Amino acid sequence: MFTLENKTAVITGAAKGIGQAIARLFSRQGADVHILDLDDENGQRTANEIVSAGYSARFHSANVANQREIFDLFTQIFNENKRFNILVNNAGVAAIGKLDETTEEDFDRVMTVNVKGCYNCALAAVSLMKQNGGGVILNMASIVSTMGIADRFAYSTSKGAVLSMTYSIARDYLDENIRCNAISPARVHTPFVDGYLKQHYPGREKEMFEVLSKTQPIGRMGQPDEIAALALYLCSDEAGFITGSNFPIDGGFTTLKK
Ligand SMILES: NC(=O)c1ccc[n+]([C@@H]2O[C@H](COP(=O)([O-])OP(=O)(O)OC[C@H]3O[C@@H](n4cnc5c(N)ncnc54)[C@H](O)[C@@H]3O)[C@@H](O)[C@H]2O)c1
Repeated sequence: MFTLENKTAVITGAAKGIGQAIARLFSRQGADVHILDLDDENGQRTANEIVSAGYSARFHSANVANQREIFDLFTQIFNENKRFNILVNNAGVAAIGKLDETTEEDFDRVMTVNVKGCYNCALAAVSLMKQNGGGVILNMASIVSTMGIADRFAYSTSKGAVLSMTYSIARDYLDENIRCNAISPARVHTPFVDGYLKQHYPGREKEMFEVLSKTQPIGRMGQPDEIAALALYLCSDEAGFITGSNFPIDGGFTTLKK
């Protein structure tokens, strides 16, 4: 079960964190993995590690916010592999602050990467997926897509759009055999979280790590591998009946009272 043999998968933001775990797992399951990221060093290192372990991966330095760049890259991947089966829209950035603490610059930055980036990649992917008879798009949303979390105005707005986009794409491409779903994690321990703690709680990183861990009723943060396992299921043929769905993976955050 859950094989990705003979499938080409593009994973954005896969140089580290959740995307990196997805790239590693998808390659082990047989996919030709294409890692797309702005972080050349970690992206290339991740691809090298995968290839050294005997699986297939390539790194591409690209910005999801640049439509021309994404179209050219996806077309090149399709032409070289003669297929384009899976897109994981995972690249994302955050901003901290309420509405009246969010600058126009921060708002534009978050929306450009998180929303326009998903749009650019999905747009480039659907025409190629149509040519190979279908495909799967998986969008990385968040628990903030469906609930209010303090001090996350721009980020929440962007992830709400990612979830709505998921439903819209799933509806419009039913006849093309393109499935589209979203994953909504609560806090997952990645460089994203470590960077946040370093920037906002210098010297108190350990203490605040514990505080953030306890905000999940289960008592800890998620691990990137746990998100990757759900991503694998949703992108596999075993999930063929699933489209237009959102999957919280949150240690009980959205449903359990502590
Ligand atoms: N970590 C969490 O707690 C958490 C929770 C819910 C949702 N998410 C979402 O999961 C996704 C991955 O999060 P993570 O924690 O692994 O983040 P991360 O910061 O560890 O990794 C994100 C990657 O995206 C890349 N990236 C950023 N902007 C890009 C761009 N314009 N073009 C190409 N690549 C770009 C970065 O270089 C980085 O390698 C994000 O969309 C995030 O919003 C994370």
